[in-house]
Amino acid sequence: MKQKINPENLDELDKLAGFRSRFHNPKNEIYLDGNSLGKLPIETKKRVSDLIDNQWGENLIRSWNDYWLELPKKIASKIASLINADQNEVLVGGSTSVNLYKLGCALINSGIYPKQLLTDSLNFPTDNYILEGISKQYSISKPVRITYSSDLKADISKLKKVISEQPGILCLSLVTYKSAYLYPIKKLNEHAKKNKSIIIWDFSHAVGVVNIDIKATETLVAIGCTYKYLNGGPGSPAFMYIHKSLIPYFNSPIQGWFGHKKPFDFLEYYEPSDGIEKFGAGTQHIISLAALEVGIDITLEAGIKNISSKSKKMSTYLMKVIKEELVPLGYVIESPDKCDDRGSHVTLSHDFSWQICQCLTNPNVDKVKITPDFRPDRFIRLGLAPLYLSFKDLEITISRLKEIIINEEYKEKEKTRPVVT
Ligand SMILES: Cc1ncc(COP(=O)(O)O)c(C=O)c1O
Repeated sequence: MKQKINPENLDELDKLAGFRSRFHNPKNEIYLDGNSLGKLPIETKKRVSDLIDNQWGENLIRSWNDYWLELPKKIASKIASLINADQNEVLVGGSTSVNLYKLGCALINSGIYPKQLLTDSLNFPTDNYILEGISKQYSISKPVRITYSSDLKADISKLKKVISEQPGILCLSLVTYKSAYLYPIKKLNEHAKKNKSIIIWDFSHAVGVVNIDIKATETLVAIGCTYKYLNGGPGSPAFMYIHKSLIPYFNSPIQGWFGHKKPFDFLEYYEPSDGIEKFGAGTQHIISLAALEVGIDITLEAGIKNISSKSKKMSTYLMKVIKEELVPLGYVIESPDKCDDRGSHVTLSHDFSWQICQCLTNPNVDKVKITPDFRPDRFIRLGLAPLYLSFKDLEITISRLKEIIINEEYKEKEKTRPVVT
């Protein structure tokens, strides 16, 4: 006989349950889109308004010396501790796209690796656009785009074979945005090294929820965003990681004054900083950094091991219930079956995926609003942010997904989609 799991029991055992109250939680909404934009920590409002009123308002320009010049370094070292990198191996600032551009150019210019860019069909579009742009800029062949038989997971033997045959500079998303597939990062780093290649890991869908260990996985370079599971806020500064042994060989393609050895000496010529700071360019986004620090602090306080362990429990629970209760209703599981092959979202599809999403987000008055996201052409992503979600939230979501099909609610919704889904 199948054993029914009681979500209330799981919530009682949840060590992180108390963290929910640290976030602004809109009434009557279950938010399953923390894999796109994390929630607002309550402390962020206070921190940002203090910065605006006191540091900017009262202290004005003096705040650069008093607080702001040190802020990026302080935050970078917190990100470093989260991913088990050294303090001086991480730079915070810019967007993931721009950081990938800087890193991609630096890798090509270094001459250490074959000048062949590679990506795969599971990678996030911006990463592929950036690589394509770099290949045009350097007049090298177009990036090799490795394809697999499904959107769901990489074929690791094919990926390894391509790396052996066409070594170069790869970019892969550690957790893929569609299915949440999680690559065997250590194995691939080792294979790349054997083949004189390097992998730029995009940690955007992983950082703050997957227990990333730079040292144990022998990762050499990475980028990532902070507005998802780190709850840094819309457009919060991204980060870049470079292994200390490689920093001396890499230079930024943008020689801005914030990458200069002595930016405030206003010297005539550019001289790059010795450290990873040379990848800085212009003035830092101080207000956004202040907001980001709160999100990172909450994550550090909760502990990445605890967060990742709850994420695994949540996705295991969800997959079990989806198989038992949703698959018979026409839902298809679009995420890997094995927990260790998944990041922290579970993706579903259905013939009526878009209409189902609308039923969840715009329910009848008496129903709870549930916010997943939709990715073309058919993917409903249920993002599991352990800091503010409960198992009960997941149970309610499952029962809504059932109801929408059984009661044919989806038939009342539009087939057309707006720009942001
Ligand atoms: C894997 C991945 N890479 C890059 C990006 C884009 O980052 P940015 O807009 O900060 O350049 C995203 C955004 O969702 C993403 O998921």
